[in-house]
Amino acid sequence: MSCGNLLKRLRSGAMLDKSEWAAFIDCDDEGFDEELFSAAAEIRDRVYGRKVFARGLVEFTSFCRNDCFYCGLRRSNKNAERYRLSENEIVETCRNGYETGFRTFVLQGGEDLHFTDDRMVSIIRAIKKNCPEAAVTISIGERSAESYRLMKEAGADRYLLRHETADHDHYSILHPSSMSLDKRISCLRTLKALGYQTGAGMMTGSPGSSALTLAEDMVFLQDLRPEMVGIGPFIPHHDTPFREMKRGSVALTLRMLALVRIALPRVLLPATTALGTAEEGGEIKGFNAGANVVMPNLTPVSVRKKYLLYDNKKITGAEAAENIDLIREKFRAAGYELSLSRGDAL
Ligand code: 5AD
Repeated sequence: MSCGNLLKRLRSGAMLDKSEWAAFIDCDDEGFDEELFSAAAEIRDRVYGRKVFARGLVEFTSFCRNDCFYCGLRRSNKNAERYRLSENEIVETCRNGYETGFRTFVLQGGEDLHFTDDRMVSIIRAIKKNCPEAAVTISIGERSAESYRLMKEAGADRYLLRHETADHDHYSILHPSSMSLDKRISCLRTLKALGYQTGAGMMTGSPGSSALTLAEDMVFLQDLRPEMVGIGPFIPHHDTPFREMKRGSVALTLRMLALVRIALPRVLLPATTALGTAEEGGEIKGFNAGANVVMPNLTPVSVRKKYLLYDNKKITGAEAAENIDLIREKFRAAGYELSLSRGDAL
């Protein structure tokens, strides 16, 4: 089937199978990307308008018990400088963001056992008390169902846990044998069942990925129907086993963003920092392919440079929350309106 016909079927709400997704992802028809991106942008405009929702990102711990081969925070990286913010620092960081106008915060960190359920519950409660209108998103990896439940009861609204790849063999190329895709998927299903607005997602161009693994991701996402999907290019980090690997392409990332927008019209879809790192102006290209979320960095500048998932991560440019006016202007010039509202999934 031609890519044009696949696009028609997808727009009419069809579930595609793996080989159809792969054909889509590999399509080299002349002008196909323009057609795809404008279809995705049109759907985004219809559902959410030209608003880009800002989430204040708080990278609160760089300790991690995991050893994912792609990530600069992996346990085996002895060169990583580790830090963790205190409960007070985390709450203060959110309060500052709240004063700037942010109404949603993403607490992201490595899998750091210091942050027990009691500590997380206390932090979430304190943020909800100090920033009453804010939505709280947690992104701290795999935990027990009980832990997810306690955090939800404390007031957490959303949870981000990328599945990284939905292909079992590919998952084991990216992760040590102590980790499993089944476990990851079971966490995602638990989060959904507990009533979290849930985010999954994957890197593009990570070692071992192909049109077929990305097709598997699309089949998985069409089945899970997460409220949020985070997609960014893999970018090598110099202190990981993947240091010599090639980074994922911007073009492929944009294509995946557009496909996700068309498959899941109401999805909240960030133009990720990795996309902006891979190419100057990458975020705007992301919006033009259907993205509608941006995550400016609220992390205190003193520790920000230590949270390095990959090389050349931007630190204090137009992606930093203190430069919110710059961000607003950059987006306005491209035809988008920055919104600091909660931006719940519709
Ligand atoms: N390049 C791009 N993205 C990465 N992540 C981790 N390491 C890298 C890398 N080297 C992504 C993972 C993780 C998210 C927090 O960051 O997908 O889920």
